Amino acid sequence: MGQLEKVKELIELRAKARLGGGEKRIEAQHAKGKYTARERIAILVDEGSFEEFDMFVEHRSTNFGMDKQKFLGDGVVTGCGTIDGRLVYIFAQDFTVIGGSLSETMALKICKVMDMAMKVGAPVIGINDSGGARIQEGVNALAGYAEIFQRNILASGVIPQISGIFGPCAGGAVYSPALTDFTLMTEGTSYMFLTGPKVVKTVTGEDVTQEELGGASVHTTKSGVAHFSVANEDDGLALIRHLYSFLPQNNMEEAPRKECTDPIARMEDSLNEIIPDNPNKPYDMFDVIGAVVDNGEFLEVHGNYAKNIIIGFARMNGQSVGVVANQPKYLAGVLDINASRKAARFVRFCDAFNIPLVTLVDVPGFLPGTGQEYGGVITHGAKLLYAYGEATVPKVTVTLRKSYGGSHIVMSCKQLRGDINYAWPTAEIAVMGADGAAEVLYAKEIKDSANPAEALAAKKEEYNKLFCNPFNAARYGYIDDVIEPRNTRFRVIRALEQLRTKKQVNPAKKHDNLPL
Ligand code: HXC
Repeated sequence: MGQLEKVKELIELRAKARLGGGEKRIEAQHAKGKYTARERIAILVDEGSFEEFDMFVEHRSTNFGMDKQKFLGDGVVTGCGTIDGRLVYIFAQDFTVIGGSLSETMALKICKVMDMAMKVGAPVIGINDSGGARIQEGVNALAGYAEIFQRNILASGVIPQISGIFGPCAGGAVYSPALTDFTLMTEGTSYMFLTGPKVVKTVTGEDVTQEELGGASVHTTKSGVAHFSVANEDDGLALIRHLYSFLPQNNMEEAPRKECTDPIARMEDSLNEIIPDNPNKPYDMFDVIGAVVDNGEFLEVHGNYAKNIIIGFARMNGQSVGVVANQPKYLAGVLDINASRKAARFVRFCDAFNIPLVTLVDVPGFLPGTGQEYGGVITHGAKLLYAYGEATVPKVTVTLRKSYGGSHIVMSCKQLRGDINYAWPTAEIAVMGADGAAEVLYAKEIKDSANPAEALAAKKEEYNKLFCNPFNAARYGYIDDVIEPRNTRFRVIRALEQLRTKKQVNPAKKHDNLPL
């Protein structure tokens, strides 16, 4: 065979590999409203930037006639490409090849890109669409999963890992996304569960559909397993690109700075009037975030889960920041189990990847009651406390209104190594709110008075005057400055600039033992 013929053969082989499981299965994939693995990658990365690896890999199984069912590349497409010119490694399971089920060789392909990503320090994006372990391969498929999980674990905190769930992701396969930093799911076409509806029915007698058991809405609202749900794959792939724009390549680098077109000293007069006179009246924390960050652009993470706390990415003077903010509009912004877990994981992500934290505080306390205590709110609340306390990235905190008791401490207070802690004049930093305090301190006095209601009001007033302000904390240096709300953007940006060279190192240890 001459050289030209050999080249022609290569071109033909490549074309064959690119067809995955063949035209018919591609049509079936499209009929379900899904793209193929290669189509997904083409949308995800910069045009023409994808370099595919291991296109000629085939599985090695001979059981159950598998030797006659071979596909070039097997059930996953792997390689690297760029997003906005920045390198990423990708694996996308190909459902058209034996349902994207994981074989030994598929696992080797996935591990290879993960190893490459670790070697060069670039993120890994995994697109999941698979029937799980390839049944014909038995324990080899299981071993393959374990190899992937082990790499997920070692890569955690070193390179960002993002999982897109664009189809089935069942059984132990769910643990790879669970180990990564961010998971997004397509609505109606994806699901994640450990055991499917049939097993559930057999074991517990419960009748449940795939969607009810592990659809995008379940995991973004109830379980919190996934961070984002998207209407379709195009939105999902665009979201991955957007999310990635806020992240660094690895834990030794900083997130890319974007040119800031929003004046850094932009005054927001609306913030001087945003806090209602009635302390129990809510306002929308999103209005504050929007007014403070560059161009009002905020990528909310976990938006439908534990809405009493808001987390997400924004930029301040072009620098990527992680925002954590209590939401007084939802459950009065109280901290509970879910909110603590949600925010703690986010704080730890930001800390691992050198993304400064901006915390906006308006928190009445932890949610009381047996439901929370039996669920272990002490341990879960401690996660957030731990996360802030161990974080060494720049931490700028602004207290807008309430900041009571334990929740005051947890929300990045000065003693948890908050670097710059500001408060608005409306801040109330105290052990508890006036209602509770007056009743605890003066219960007998109030009960015995001629007019208990009046007596209570007077004591509340006295307590409010003494404690429910920022100056008491400022007097001790627990608050670095009391600022005009409309200046918040400028003050936070200036604080972050000041902290750019911050260096803080925690004591050496094998690893910590945070309250899991
Ligand atoms: C081998 C598989 C497969 C699997 C799908 N296929 N899953 N082959 N091993 N796990 C094959 C099908 O036989 C079919 O082949 C093709 O992929 C497409 O699948 P369909 O069933 O036609 O597609 P659909 O109707 O869309 O159903 C998708 C599905 C279903 C719901 C995922 O295929 C299914 O239930 N698969 C089995 C899921 C499962 O039990 N997996 C093992 C879980 S245990 P043809 O040739 O007909 O096109 C596990 C343990 C992991 O994963 C532990 C890790 C620690």
